[in-house]
Amino acid sequence: MVKVKKAIIPAAGLGTRFLPATKAMPKEMLPIVDKPTVQYIVEEAIASGIEDIIIVTGKGKRAIEDHFDHAFELEDNLYKKRKLDLLEKVRESAQVDIHYIRQKEPKGLGHAIWCARKFIGDEPFAVLLGDDIVQAETPCLKQLMDVFEQYNASVIGVQPVSMDETERYGIIDPLRQDGRLYEVKGLVEKPKKEEAPSNVAIMGRYILTPEIFKHLDKQEQGAGGEIQLTDAIQKLNGTQNVYAYVFEGTRYDVGEKLGFIKTTIEMALRREDLGEELRNYLRELVERELSLSAVRR
Ligand code: G1P
Repeated sequence: MVKVKKAIIPAAGLGTRFLPATKAMPKEMLPIVDKPTVQYIVEEAIASGIEDIIIVTGKGKRAIEDHFDHAFELEDNLYKKRKLDLLEKVRESAQVDIHYIRQKEPKGLGHAIWCARKFIGDEPFAVLLGDDIVQAETPCLKQLMDVFEQYNASVIGVQPVSMDETERYGIIDPLRQDGRLYEVKGLVEKPKKEEAPSNVAIMGRYILTPEIFKHLDKQEQGAGGEIQLTDAIQKLNGTQNVYAYVFEGTRYDVGEKLGFIKTTIEMALRREDLGEELRNYLRELVERELSLSAVRR
């Protein structure tokens, strides 16, 4: 049986939603509490059993490479000061071997994946998008890999959204449903509510067969004038079964401001070193805000 060993993490986006923070810093390096978002993604891939990771980068993304490398001066300094917990944290992110390739033009997600085709070769592979962080008992990607092993076909991670949100996602048109698993009839990238075939949205996790590259090779533009991965999967579905799996776990959208703030608060609440103090502060804050809005009324 073919196993999924390789993963692509696209990280070439400009991060315009977080300007000016992302003027000189990759958005993937924005921290949730004290860990860059991209590290959560890499950790999920490794925890799922992925052996080789390629990050598709672009201009101004050097900090990502530095983050997953040793930092000798810093490590030496921490060692000499006997700050061994911090030293361990700093070293942790340098333990993985990551490959990099640049997307030379911002032509969309489908194009970013296509840039990694030579690294992938003729194997099934995973894609993890950095804007979606998933907290789950079994890592989200592992859940999809288990489905892949059963069906030997492409699997997309999905969750339901409200009909008002379909315009923000790739949406599937389900053919059949069996518990958490859908057989996919079609896929549409960011349809308006009136045109959406369902409310089942693609959530940034994919296992794809290498035949996807035949469709990405054509470089056809879709929604927003970009080469869309969703469109290529739609084409792939013409010749192979594609499945969608409603993964278990909470998905956080760190690609937009409010989602980023919510994720930071929730993750901090779960931390032993911060949770209690933050919970007390939030309680006080809510009380203060509520009494202020009562006065205003
Ligand atoms: C991308 C995909 C879309 C998916 C979304 C969330 O869109 O194109 O199909 O639903 O990620 O994972 P983006 O948010 O990058 O515009």
